[in-house]
Amino acid sequence: MANIDELKQEIVDKSLQAFLAGLFAGTSGNMSTYIPEKEIMLITPTSVRYETMQAHQIVEMRLDGTILSDGKPSSEWHLHAEMYKAHPNVKAVFHTHSPYGTAFAVNHMSIPATLIEAYFFLGGEIPCAKYATPGTPEVGIYAAETIGDKGGVLLANHGVVAVGKDLSEAYLRAEYIEDAAKIYTFAKQIGTPVELKQL
Ligand code: 13P
Repeated sequence: MANIDELKQEIVDKSLQAFLAGLFAGTSGNMSTYIPEKEIMLITPTSVRYETMQAHQIVEMRLDGTILSDGKPSSEWHLHAEMYKAHPNVKAVFHTHSPYGTAFAVNHMSIPATLIEAYFFLGGEIPCAKYATPGTPEVGIYAAETIGDKGGVLLANHGVVAVGKDLSEAYLRAEYIEDAAKIYTFAKQIGTPVELKQL
């Protein structure tokens, strides 16, 4: 198992990668991992630019909101904590503002499973959770209720959440959610995308 310092550096590296790939916008978006044996969540700080973020700024906290290190956690820490509380198999949460996926979220639409990767990596269609005020526990409660066993969920008028057994899996799923949303959007321009009911 990676140690806390290594995990903090991995969060910083993946956050910058996500920003450069257009999965994050501005200082929005956030990433975390949960270490159950230590009951510690590591999460990006709020409103820090990804080009300057350093490992020592990654915040250590409990799922009840108790902060164990310096710094202020993401304003969406409840989202991450509620996901870990409801889904013990989830060990990493990645909240993006990736544009094609977020376009579905602002329409309160699910992303249909038209791409085979949606089955391989995401478990099928990506559902959209009902709207909740940003930063409230309800954002996480609704997302955790709606995600089921899928690899991600949309937050109405807000963005995308991808989950995984580790940071790499959550990141890969965030990429495939965006790819599935983008290809569906292109396909709609030229025809009628066919939903896959099974592989
Ligand atoms: P921070 O993680 O910087 O607080 O950003 C919040 C956010 O992404 C809201 O969607």
